[in-house]
Amino acid sequence: MSVTMDTLVSLSKRRGFIFQSSEIYGGTGSCWDYGPLGVELKNNIKRLWWRDFVQSRADMVGIDASILMHPTVWKASGHLDHFTDPMVDCRECKLRFRADQVDERPWTHYCPATKGNKFTIPAGEPCSHCGGRRTLCPDCGKGELTAPRQFNLMFKTFMGPVEEDASITYLRPETAQAMFVNFDNVLQSMRLKLPFGIAQAGRAFRNEITPGNFIFRTREFEQMEIEYFVNPHETVDGRPADEYWHDRWIEDCLAWFRRYGLRKENLQLREHRKDELSHYSKRTVDIDYRFPIGWSELMGIANRTDFDLKQHAQFSGKSLTYFDEERKEHVVPYVIEPSAGVDRALLAFLADGYVEEEVRGEKRVVLRLHVELAPLKVAVLPLLKKREEIVRTAQAIRAELARQWRVVYDDTAAIGRLYRRQDEVGTPYCVTVDVQTVGDSGKGESGDGKVTIRDRDSMEQIRVPIPDLAAVFGELLSGGEWTTAAARYPTAKTS
Ligand code: GAP
Repeated sequence: MSVTMDTLVSLSKRRGFIFQSSEIYGGTGSCWDYGPLGVELKNNIKRLWWRDFVQSRADMVGIDASILMHPTVWKASGHLDHFTDPMVDCRECKLRFRADQVDERPWTHYCPATKGNKFTIPAGEPCSHCGGRRTLCPDCGKGELTAPRQFNLMFKTFMGPVEEDASITYLRPETAQAMFVNFDNVLQSMRLKLPFGIAQAGRAFRNEITPGNFIFRTREFEQMEIEYFVNPHETVDGRPADEYWHDRWIEDCLAWFRRYGLRKENLQLREHRKDELSHYSKRTVDIDYRFPIGWSELMGIANRTDFDLKQHAQFSGKSLTYFDEERKEHVVPYVIEPSAGVDRALLAFLADGYVEEEVRGEKRVVLRLHVELAPLKVAVLPLLKKREEIVRTAQAIRAELARQWRVVYDDTAAIGRLYRRQDEVGTPYCVTVDVQTVGDSGKGESGDGKVTIRDRDSMEQIRVPIPDLAAVFGELLSGGEWTTAAARYPTAKTS
């Protein structure tokens, strides 16, 4: 069963992943706030991406550039002239639509064949009574639409106290340009050799005309981008270096999403047609994911050629070249750009991880997130919250494990319900402290000093001595198999 967007929106709000921005004021269109669990998940996505694509590779470095850049950056990059959508306005209700999408939505029609009755007609279809097609505003059904006008998607603002043309600047619509304008700084300071890449994760802003579908398309979002510079005069395996590296990055990005749990059948590659390529691109391939709204872009991997470095060299008057020692010549590198949206990745991981199953006649909702993505790694639960020693032991375990991982203590419900709550937010392991752990001093019984670890996916339980916990979780939370760890300890009765 595939999950609906409504289910994800509801789970996200109820369990502290994502809230509507400024909700108490009625919300801000298409803006979302990440809550306590959402921020952990989002940080984990960015951390793993950085670890796997920057930290662990000898050919990669990172930067963190400012969001506001010199306005000429956007002239040189082509965003001022090309980053536009054609728009039409309704003369009556003043709503604005993307001209190329106006027929992709249901339309309101006052049908002359039925004495002007109002109908909502499916996208692209004619009225079944009069046969008429949409000519007026699809929303109010009354107003004429203006001729298409180009609308720039960049957010405009002013630098400094005076709101005049000379102080206009823009919120960056992509993080990429900072890598191009810092190309020479990075090259010189880090003494790099081609091929090498510069990575950055950060906010981007687009005044999208049709945002929506939860966090899929928003006006403020985060990107994780890499600009990978290659020598266009070189060949690898008999192929031009840019084409070889383009295919390598497509494979590596696909493998990355698979590694962290996205199912193969929910991922596919989509080659851009020549007529849809961006103004800078020689070839672009998207990784599409089967979101609850259907197959849509998760990330894009473009071959931007030498377009950006040449443009910035021309507009800044600074040389942005690389000296090829072997050929004794200056070259302008080609760029391969893997560009992923953090929010879309998060939505895909939520959708792919969401499972509803029946366990002993009851519905269980479980978020099967990869352990490294899970917002909470371990929940420590006391079996009886009225037994002081149980509570004290559970809290001490939480404090000890929290030195290394995000660990919570929860005693607000009975144990069965506490397990279900943790399943629903994807916590891979629960630790339960019970009477057997601490004994009963009143009766002169000492405890065995062991606790129960429960595995989210199999729901199996093992009994582990408290001093072993850090080592066991060290193994499990860095990719170790549950079956391997569990084989070393006695099983415990499932609850
Ligand atoms: N530098 C290239 C670039 O920005 P893009 O295809 O426009 O390319 C890259 O954006 C990725 O950024 C997309 O694949 C998507 O994951 C994310 N993205 C773009 N616009 C977005 C929006 N309005 N809301 C959420 N994510 C967005």
